[in-house]
Amino acid sequence: MCDLGHSHPHQSYGFLVDAPEIRALIDETTRLTAAIEDDAARVEALRPAFGALLASDGWLPESCARPDDSSRMGGGIGQYALYRAEDGSLCLFSLVVPAGAATPVHDHLAWGLVGIYRGRQDETVYRRLDDGSDPARARLEISKRQQLGRGEFYTLLPPADDIHFVTTVSDTPSISIHLLANDTACVWRHRFEPATGVVTPFRSGYANAPCPDGGT
Ligand SMILES: [Fe+2]
Repeated sequence: MCDLGHSHPHQSYGFLVDAPEIRALIDETTRLTAAIEDDAARVEALRPAFGALLASDGWLPESCARPDDSSRMGGGIGQYALYRAEDGSLCLFSLVVPAGAATPVHDHLAWGLVGIYRGRQDETVYRRLDDGSDPARARLEISKRQQLGRGEFYTLLPPADDIHFVTTVSDTPSISIHLLANDTACVWRHRFEPATGVVTPFRSGYANAPCPDGGT
């Protein structure tokens, strides 16, 4: 589950957390991925199933709902794989951000849905002003800020609104649930410093599962 090396030491793919509520969402995602070719239409069609998972209780183990002191993102931020497709085409994970902590500014590089399961987050979204031709530089400006509470969610349809950071504004850790069409923590993404324009390669890693090339 969510303790690396404990209850299921050899399971890195499939249902790392096997709960009917998670299976229902993954089954629906698989069905809609086969049925709907257009990313925007598919994400829209997934809203009811994703909202249902956020509204359900009892399916997220405590071990996937706590901060991670060894986090690569810093700030005790924990990222726990709940489901991973072996071919890297889909994942579901929880992200635990302690009170007052913020993620780096980052991108996702895949369509998906992200919602709040516990606590409250402030999200700052950036618009890219340059053409992306220089992999080490980006010119960013803030395009949107919003606060999200329990049960609220947004969709990701890169490249639109794909660069953001979140801060927990509740006095308890926020837990957000992410359904994304890649193996998010294991793909090389980007970390941005809006003030300087510096872009660095970024791989967050899961706290409870290794990445395919042996890294975490
Ligand atoms: Fe994010």
